[in-house]
Amino acid sequence: MAQVSTDRSVRSLLRQGIEQLRAAEVPWFTLAAELLLLHVANQDRTWLYAHPEEMLPCETAEKYFALLHRRVLGEPTQHLTGKQEFWGLEFEVTPDVLIPRPETEHLIEVALDRLAVHELQAGRPTAKLIGENLTIVDIGTGSGCIAIALAKELPAATIYATDVSRAALEVARRNATHRGFSNRIHFLESNLLEAFRSNPVAAQHAAPQPGTHSTKSASSHESRIASHKSLRFDLIISNPPYIGRQEGDSLPIEVREHEPATALYGGQEGYELYGHLIPQAAQFLKPGGLLILEFGHNSLPAVKPLLDSSTWHKIAVTKDLAGIPRVLSAQRI
Ligand SMILES: C[S@@+](CC[C@H](N)C(=O)[O-])C[C@H]1O[C@@H](n2cnc3c(N)ncnc32)[C@H](O)[C@@H]1O
Repeated sequence: MAQVSTDRSVRSLLRQGIEQLRAAEVPWFTLAAELLLLHVANQDRTWLYAHPEEMLPCETAEKYFALLHRRVLGEPTQHLTGKQEFWGLEFEVTPDVLIPRPETEHLIEVALDRLAVHELQAGRPTAKLIGENLTIVDIGTGSGCIAIALAKELPAATIYATDVSRAALEVARRNATHRGFSNRIHFLESNLLEAFRSNPVAAQHAAPQPGTHSTKSASSHESRIASHKSLRFDLIISNPPYIGRQEGDSLPIEVREHEPATALYGGQEGYELYGHLIPQAAQFLKPGGLLILEFGHNSLPAVKPLLDSSTWHKIAVTKDLAGIPRVLSAQRI
């Protein structure tokens, strides 16, 4: 059990936390110590530097040192505080979902830019894009960060979000509810876009497993699936799992041991899922619809050729702030 120092002032606790995390070579150690102290003190950032002499109760200091210890052992700061900011919104995160990454915000920026051009080309110029008549799907929604950011920016759009992980969908639904978007986003348990297929094989795939649902809930589930059958989208957006299993050992402990494997690995090489996702997107996009994908630092040579010129045009690659190619966007012919 960590020792609680006799000096429980904000300044001293912060200094001790920074020292512990730095000694353990925790990345972003100052930010991590600040976030953990704010979390246990239930305060916001302005308080931290406005009240350096304030003494914190013994139990608060004990909680703080316990969290520092867990952080030193490798648990991500966001799992300890239970939250992460994305697109200016606070998201609940648990070990069932990928912690939203800042670079994924580029996906939202590219989507909004390309949708604005799309609307202009379709003869629907508007002073402000609100997403009227747009149907969007976020594949592999995780915490729901992409779908929820788009719901915030496009108040009139109809938004769907899929994930294979039922546990992730629970977190995404809670995030949508807390942000007031639960009536705007339809969350579906689905392998990629299979839940939207109208053929019997796909319907079977999307249906609950025998014995796990009552007849009543199974039939209501099927009618819900039926209402989504034959939907076609204006925008398909995804940050799919794209790390190669072969890279697993080189990942930081925070990622390797604490984030869900389903959210991380796209196959042995990493880019395998795009080989299924891109042909499905071609089937489920309306003519002129947009596909916007995040991809890994070394996936571009494998992923870009999947966008064949008979189906896709206006293919563009956007770099992130670190100059790494990060977002691939294309239009369905
Ligand atoms: C890299 S995470 C992205 C989560 C979130 N969209 C974000 O950007 O933070 C990938 C997500 O895809 C989900 N996933 C993995 N394989 C899938 C599949 N075949 N169909 C649908 N979702 C899948 C995972 O469960 C995970 O939530």
